[in-house]
Amino acid sequence: MLTLRGRGPRRGNSLSQLGIVKDGAVLVRDGRIAAVGPAAKVEKLAAARKAERVDVAGRVVLPGFVDSHTHLVHAASRAQEYELKIQGASYEEIARKGGGILNSVAKLRSATSQHLKWSARSALEVFASHGTTTIEAKSGYGLDVASELKILSLHKELSSEQPIEIASTFLGAHVVPPEFRGKARGPDEYVKLLTDWLIPEVASNGLAEFCDVFCDRGAFSRAQSKQVLAAGLRNKLVPRIHAEQLTRTGATQLAVEFGAASCDHLEQVNSSDIRALAKSETVATLLPGCDFHLGLKQYAPARKLIDAGAVVALATDYNPGTSPTMSMPMILSLACTQLRMTPAEAITASTINAAYSLGRHSRIGSLAVGKQADIAVFEVEDYREIPYYFGVNTCWLTMKNGQVIYAAA
Ligand code: NIG
Ligand code: FE
Repeated sequence: MLTLRGRGPRRGNSLSQLGIVKDGAVLVRDGRIAAVGPAAKVEKLAAARKAERVDVAGRVVLPGFVDSHTHLVHAASRAQEYELKIQGASYEEIARKGGGILNSVAKLRSATSQHLKWSARSALEVFASHGTTTIEAKSGYGLDVASELKILSLHKELSSEQPIEIASTFLGAHVVPPEFRGKARGPDEYVKLLTDWLIPEVASNGLAEFCDVFCDRGAFSRAQSKQVLAAGLRNKLVPRIHAEQLTRTGATQLAVEFGAASCDHLEQVNSSDIRALAKSETVATLLPGCDFHLGLKQYAPARKLIDAGAVVALATDYNPGTSPTMSMPMILSLACTQLRMTPAEAITASTINAAYSLGRHSRIGSLAVGKQADIAVFEVEDYREIPYYFGVNTCWLTMKNGQVIYAAA
């Protein structure tokens, strides 16, 4: 049993400490962890004698994965662009021709809420079947008032209708929507729509906790991103940021200045960005699924970030354009072979550190008394086998608040 006990967030060497208990047991009461430790001790407790028993002998038990970066609600895949990319077109070329995010925007705008909900619900079941118990979900494929509110309302509805917890993020600043393109002032007018109208509307209706911006070439400049995050903060939305993915824009420094909860991607960071992150509380969230799916060679410098002392997290970035996966175990495999993170570091980055980036580390991300009984069980003998096996699912059981939400047949 990997308890991940101890304080979060984890930096440097402490990323390797999994708090392993051999022959462990967890006692769950009213959805929370009432006791955790060696089975011989836990089983002796009076409350344990009356408890229903789930025998997981011979398997590895750990906190449910926290997937802190997803674009859950979207209408369809972009398999056609996938093929174009394989044939040599770049992600940015496809985007410039109106594909990319704008392709997903057109599809989402014409999709019904019912279809979007059905597709998000099926995805949530797949998340659960790979050991994930909490996700963050971003809007950003609507980019007009009605469609963005439609996505955020779905986050809320889905939160109450199925077991996986959803932390909602407003990403109106994903790209400039088509109707604001083609005129010089268009992008700034769109930013004004976000800062003066949509962000206050989202916040006053309690539709999001976080405000994100895609700060990159072809998306929003540093100055525009600053305006968006500042408006978010004025409305009590905590900043997150898509930073240094395609080009280095200085978004990381902006994230640190704003005390962002998370700064995500980071393929193009330089050494001063790494130093700034290491000194901050902002989590460096790495998304190796993107580089894998886009066939890119340059992954984020995870080793340098960890060695410098940054709080590193991992996430799927589940989205139709750059990372169509709901599998945290696959992300762990990529983190190990491509980012050179050890299996232990990858597990810490996907549980307690990811929980910290969502402001939920006192409630989830480790197995400790009083925390939610969010638990994943893998059909492996050694925790290193979770990333070791790839392209197959070794998740055996997933529990959310003490309820089984997935069991392998
Ligand atoms: O996290 N970088 C921007 N947003 C997504 C990609 C979205 C898309 O291509 O649809 C990402 O990689
Ligand atoms: Fe993203």
